[in-house]
Amino acid sequence: MKQLSIAIDGPASSGKSTVAKILAKKLDFVYCDTGSMYRALTYLAIKEGIDFQDEAGLVALILNNSISFKQAEEGQLVFVNNVDVTNEIRQPDVTNGVSFVAMHAKVRSKMVALQQEIGRLGGVVMDGRDIGTAVLPNAEVKIFLVASVQERAERRYKENIEKGITTDFDTLKQEIEQRDHVDSTREVSPLVQAKDAIKIDTTGMNIEEVVLAIEAIIHSKAE
Ligand code: DC
Repeated sequence: MKQLSIAIDGPASSGKSTVAKILAKKLDFVYCDTGSMYRALTYLAIKEGIDFQDEAGLVALILNNSISFKQAEEGQLVFVNNVDVTNEIRQPDVTNGVSFVAMHAKVRSKMVALQQEIGRLGGVVMDGRDIGTAVLPNAEVKIFLVASVQERAERRYKENIEKGITTDFDTLKQEIEQRDHVDSTREVSPLVQAKDAIKIDTTGMNIEEVVLAIEAIIHSKAE
């Protein structure tokens, strides 16, 4: 398989990370979950008492701390200063703050540079909100995954239960809507479908069906 770049964007809980992880494994490509970088920064901000509005303070956190990844059998592990924070960055305090941290232009330009470095050589499946539009605008394959809010909330609710995180369903649904709103209306690189991205509505589809649909697109581009 050619060292393609595969960009997968879409709103919260649209299944991006799950399918990106499976595709990367099948293709033996690098997997990069860019949301986890913004989450790691949000985790750091909470820990260090930096306000989510404090752009300079957030940029200083990026410069003075290391955020790194390790590919493991169970997926991508995330480290802050070499401490594994993979579980911590999925907690509700981080999830509900991350859109506000990801709004800032200077935060984004630092993160985008790190992501472009990871994707420089191709052979990568990267998921996020602005991969096809800003991070990897020349990616050969661009996918935009969507699903109804109801279904996304149901998926996240089940995932949370499996992880032992207790949440009220209606609150979760509202939080997803709120995050979609902030992510799609921010000034810098909002969540939008790239012109050349292929949209897949995954409402009513299972993971295997979504993976198959994307694989068919990848193969058509690789020929
Ligand atoms: O994919 P996720 O839910 O883990 O992403 C967490 C947040 O990070 C999301 O609300 C918006 C932000 N994000 C972003 O602005 N740009 C990206 N490329 C990835 C995530």
